[in-house]
Amino acid sequence: MANPVSICIIGSGYVGLVAAVCFAEMGHQVTCVDNDEAKVRLLREGGVPIYEEHLPELLVRHGGKGVVFTTDLSEAVKRSEAIFIAVGTPQGDTGAADLSFVEAVVSEIARAVNGYKVIVEKSTVPVYTNEWIHRVMHRHGVDPQGFDVVSNPEFLREGTAVMDFLHPDRIVVGANTERAAQVLRRIYEPLTGGSYYAQPLALQGMCTPAAPARLLVTSAQSSEIIKHASNAFLALKISFINAVANLAEAVDADIEDIAAGMGMDNRIGPRFLRAGLGYGGSCFPKDVAAFHWVAQQQGVDFQLLNEVRKINETQKEVFFNKVRAALWTLRGKRLAALGLAFKGDTDDIRESPAIDVIRKLIDAGASVSAYDPAAMERAQAVLPTSEKMSYASGIYEAAKDADAVLILTDWKAFATLDLVRLNQLVRFPIVIDGRNLYKPQVMLDHGFTYVSVGRPASYQAQQGKPRKMIF
Ligand code: UGA
Repeated sequence: MANPVSICIIGSGYVGLVAAVCFAEMGHQVTCVDNDEAKVRLLREGGVPIYEEHLPELLVRHGGKGVVFTTDLSEAVKRSEAIFIAVGTPQGDTGAADLSFVEAVVSEIARAVNGYKVIVEKSTVPVYTNEWIHRVMHRHGVDPQGFDVVSNPEFLREGTAVMDFLHPDRIVVGANTERAAQVLRRIYEPLTGGSYYAQPLALQGMCTPAAPARLLVTSAQSSEIIKHASNAFLALKISFINAVANLAEAVDADIEDIAAGMGMDNRIGPRFLRAGLGYGGSCFPKDVAAFHWVAQQQGVDFQLLNEVRKINETQKEVFFNKVRAALWTLRGKRLAALGLAFKGDTDDIRESPAIDVIRKLIDAGASVSAYDPAAMERAQAVLPTSEKMSYASGIYEAAKDADAVLILTDWKAFATLDLVRLNQLVRFPIVIDGRNLYKPQVMLDHGFTYVSVGRPASYQAQQGKPRKMIF
């Protein structure tokens, strides 16, 4: 590569690890730092701590070569020109992001600097974090000419994070000096100039040498807000379609047709209009709350964000009530839960609607047999240990003798069930689908009573449609 940059990434979670291997894939020399010794050891030995497509192959390609792993932050900072902070910013009690990990890392960087450095905020942080990083560096006696702070938010989705990194819709760089902006331009040059896409081993995707990635340079504050506002807007889209779904259901309309009709308008677009159990994960719930807090701090009344959150919470209640309405009473019922992760293609269960729903069902006296292709281990650590909670080794084992099958996560495997086999295994052919993976008529044709989100339920004639019920 013509112009490689020495990069240090602090934090080897979803964001840090993906950024580290992708920068190595782009030809840079990367040192990835984590204070978790066991994790660093695992990575050094070729292990992969998270479930993420393409990550294993890129780790094989670059591990120990283009990217090395260490616990020694000071040494990593010394040998790097750009230092990316990718540590957690969990939600604090007030909704605000807890920035104590960021502050601790910045203090360590300040003690280690040995020349001009660009410090890059990769973690999701509130506006003015760049100012705070400046202040902390200054308090530790670092000359303001000796460093710059840049915001470079990530827009990676779990499950497709590697492809999102290498084939981004946009790269945003919030830099208040041209010197720092230039370093970031150099780092992303293989993507923005298109040379990466021309390499024989490059992962092929949306960007090409002729249509490379786009990079937008803004002020640091604007960039920090772009990240929060983007996540909040996507969450808003989901809550909006879920609210419309509840209305659709009340008037026997079909939310899938409604979303298709809305999405055909280029100004609206079809993505993130999938009605269901609501959004979860480590980002949307936290970022909606943090953005609301940021607005409040600046005296801006952004109530809309509160509504987005409320609709999302209600959506799980709505689903729970559907299960009750379909089964009448829950005590003693045996339910198959397909899905534990907060969405398909990930083992992440943070803020997973599936976990919330399962907890409520167990509290209501039902027993649950759950299956997820990747998130079983993580779910077992948080779900109650109880005779009512069990884990199956496959879809059909979970469904055996179930009073109803619940679809809670949009894994591809759940969208292609063998419906004939499923019908033979269950006690009663009832499917309650929180992700709208099936067409109601198909389920009806296979003998199922099928309840989904924002669409009329299809009831098998012999079971009868319940009248409107009030709980
Ligand atoms: C999200 C954003 O999509 C990324 O751009 C961002 O970088 C990331 O957060 C972050 O801030 O780190 P992620 O949390 O991985 O990515 O997941 P999404 O694919 O966005 O899904 C979030 C939730 O919304 C999931 O629970 C999903 O099931 C739900 N969802 C998504 C819907 O209910 N309906 C939809 O139409 C789309």
